[in-house]
Amino acid sequence: MFSAVEVIRTKRDRGRLSTEQIRWVIDAYTRGEVADEQMSALAMAILLNGADDREISDWTAAMIDSGDRLDLGRVGKPTVDKHSTGGVGDKITLPLAPLVASFGVAVPQLSGRGLGHTGGTLDKLETIPGFRTNLTVDEFIDHLANPGAVVCAASERLAPADRRLYALRDVTGTVEAIPLIASSIMSKKIAEGTQGLVLDVKVGSGAFMKDLRSARRLAETMVRLGNSHGVRCTALLTDMSTPLGRTAGNALEVAESVEVLAGGGPSDVVELTVALAAEMLALAGMPDADPAAALADGRAMDAWRAMVTAQGGDPDAALPRAPETDEVLADRDGVVTSMDAYAVGVAAWRLGAGRARQGEAVSAGAGVEIVATVGETVRAGQPLLRLHADDTSRFAVAREKLTDAVEIGNSFDKRHLIMERID
Ligand code: URA
Repeated sequence: MFSAVEVIRTKRDRGRLSTEQIRWVIDAYTRGEVADEQMSALAMAILLNGADDREISDWTAAMIDSGDRLDLGRVGKPTVDKHSTGGVGDKITLPLAPLVASFGVAVPQLSGRGLGHTGGTLDKLETIPGFRTNLTVDEFIDHLANPGAVVCAASERLAPADRRLYALRDVTGTVEAIPLIASSIMSKKIAEGTQGLVLDVKVGSGAFMKDLRSARRLAETMVRLGNSHGVRCTALLTDMSTPLGRTAGNALEVAESVEVLAGGGPSDVVELTVALAAEMLALAGMPDADPAAALADGRAMDAWRAMVTAQGGDPDAALPRAPETDEVLADRDGVVTSMDAYAVGVAAWRLGAGRARQGEAVSAGAGVEIVATVGETVRAGQPLLRLHADDTSRFAVAREKLTDAVEIGNSFDKRHLIMERID
């Protein structure tokens, strides 16, 4: 039998928590026996003093064991998922899940909602008229068998300890701790039952990890955790200093994803979708598959339509549009040299695309459209960004957040979207 104070003191004094201490504290927290203030003190001690591999592995196992572990055995296909650590304009799941499913691989995407400046996949998909993101476990498994791609909300029984702890970290300044992020993400992915997992670890202003070194440490920690729990994992470190693609906002991002599925779309979104698909297909035993061909010849689009229809959505319905627009204009001639992902994410959020508190409604049509992106030449007075909102009162604060977000110069260095690969 342990006491919460004793566990907190151990970590406060830079000690190592034993396996038994970790199992006890996670279980007692899930049951409500350890209070939020005690868990937040422990989370802060971990943020400040770290945790070693054994502690992270035990913490992850305890969070998995706080709920159910899905058995995807009856799906009858290889299962491979992707997880992104979150960014601005990151709509990659939307084209990626059906693209990979078009090769006969099941993609079990249990996704989240946006909080703060990052968008949420479920909020994006719910802008499609009729689309259901709340599926039962049986529906989830049936849809994995056919059509193969499913994007829906995780059940409350999946890693419930993480559900409580994540909400607590969000309000106690303890999100940005590698042991806590790694165990949070991996406990959910391992409990979901996927055989393979590709991690897209974002680096830059719009990401949790602002520098390459910490992103690499996070990726290595997660890959090790996955492999040690029987989930084959690889990770790509990818740039999130600039938003992905040309849109940040729910329906705007769906429309852009459909362009990618139709064989067009922004080159960075296509590049990352194809790279992640190739990694996922390799984990599913298809290292020679050609995902770019499936985007070009309509197979991925067919799989998207099948996925949307299976989840009650109408793939042909018009997407909602915000009634009001405003523009941010270039103040000089030149080349766009940088566009701050964080500022664009905050602006989209303030326009109504995101929520400040869990449970709030989001606007389907609000967001930022990037008219001129990094590397493009503009003339003074030309639009750089187009803002979309349900009412004009949103524009002032969004414009303020975008002050200095876009730099115009004379030359720029080409962006390296995919920075490193870790396996
Ligand atoms: N996403 C998660 O699920 N957990 C974290 O801790 C951070 C990002």
